[in-house]
Amino acid sequence: MKQKKPWGGRFTKQTAASVESFTESVSFDWRLYKYDIEGSIAHATMLARCKLITEKEKTTIVKGLSEILSEILAGKFEFKESLEDVHMNIESALIDRIGDAGKKLHTARSRNDQVALDLRLWTREQARLMTGLLSVLQKELVKKGKKHFGLIMPGFTHLQHAQPVLVSHYLLAYVEMLERDKTRLQDCCVRLNKSPLGACALAGTTLPTDPLHTAKLLGFQGVCENSMDAVSDRDFCVEYVFCLSSIVMHMSRLCEEWIIWCNDEFKFIEISDAYCTGSSIMPQKKNPDVLELIRGKSGRVFGHLTSLLTLLKGLPLSYNRDMQEDKVAIFDASDTVQNSLSILAELVANTSFNGERMTQACEKGFIDATALAEYLVKKDVPFRKAHEIVGNIVRECIRVQCKLVDLKLDGFKAFSFVIEKDVYKALGVENCIKNYKSYGSTAPQFVKKRITYWEKKLSSSLPRKNTD
Ligand code: ARG
Repeated sequence: MKQKKPWGGRFTKQTAASVESFTESVSFDWRLYKYDIEGSIAHATMLARCKLITEKEKTTIVKGLSEILSEILAGKFEFKESLEDVHMNIESALIDRIGDAGKKLHTARSRNDQVALDLRLWTREQARLMTGLLSVLQKELVKKGKKHFGLIMPGFTHLQHAQPVLVSHYLLAYVEMLERDKTRLQDCCVRLNKSPLGACALAGTTLPTDPLHTAKLLGFQGVCENSMDAVSDRDFCVEYVFCLSSIVMHMSRLCEEWIIWCNDEFKFIEISDAYCTGSSIMPQKKNPDVLELIRGKSGRVFGHLTSLLTLLKGLPLSYNRDMQEDKVAIFDASDTVQNSLSILAELVANTSFNGERMTQACEKGFIDATALAEYLVKKDVPFRKAHEIVGNIVRECIRVQCKLVDLKLDGFKAFSFVIEKDVYKALGVENCIKNYKSYGSTAPQFVKKRITYWEKKLSSSLPRKNTD
């Protein structure tokens, strides 16, 4: 039997089956059920407070909705495509269950403000969850940084050997990035944390409602000031997916590095067998597929950001059905980034650093050349001049195939008279690391402090459970 539509009053024909399946969203928006019910309970509470329904009706509605929630959680609720979306599925089930009181729930509400509300609640929760996952990854990076404190690697620019850095410093660079991602999520939540409920279809209502009360019940910081904006605004989706794009872009950078670092040419790291996969034809292969997939999935998340912007571009006020597509983008982006964060944290914990290879790599590429130029600056040589002198010294070393530190004092003096015996205290990666001074540099004392700082800061952040 065909399902009666909640909006069927003015229609003389059944909806075509093709239209039903084309327009439905319940196949993906069912996952908003928790927020839909939470929002409906708050709405019913407000309606009772404003005497638009009786206390008894409210109690019946709340009881009915709570039972529906338990049914969904138990996997016993049947979402029907013919009822379009999660909102109408739950409302219809409520009416089936409690009758007339259920028919009053939609007083002073539209699906337009309802879906905007549900999605804000969902996004707010997901942002919190994401923050917890970011902390887990940060913790693993800090742990690795602490374990390898003192280990030196060549820092790269242009993927060429540049200057020596502590491995811990390198790892903490990612911790900083991820921290910015967290604050971006927080900022997003500040703007998101306003209730659109009460805007109804687009213009508000003639009924004496109290949207501020609903907002308070749902933990919002206020109510959207303009009803047309309230139902049309999906900026929070765009912002949230941008935050996710930034997270996955950061992860992708690390992945790219580690993909390179685990090959035979570098061998800076060894990923546990449990976190690699093999080849169906080449028996010797051990591939970093997890890292490659995270790098690949970043494209998918950026795609969702572009989808959302394109979806909204040129969309007239106020609600348009196009907006139903927002959920496809935001859900998948969120799932993708959550999964990537979790697995990357595990992979970091299961990766070891090959100190020997890193130390060997430091011998190549004259990575103490900048330190030598700064040595000259300390002897009052203008930096540009010092740069040129060291450039010439490096050229000579390339010619005779030696390291800077292998040159005899006379050899140095041939390029600059100011160079003395103490030059050897500036050369070699160990000395370079020891001599770093500037704030935020890879100087061991700074890095050590920062490790302690992060350990303390992150110890208070507990990962949250995804209850969706
Ligand atoms: N499923 C719709 C969405 O996700 C809910 C709102 C529908 N409103 C409407 N007037 N058709 O956007």
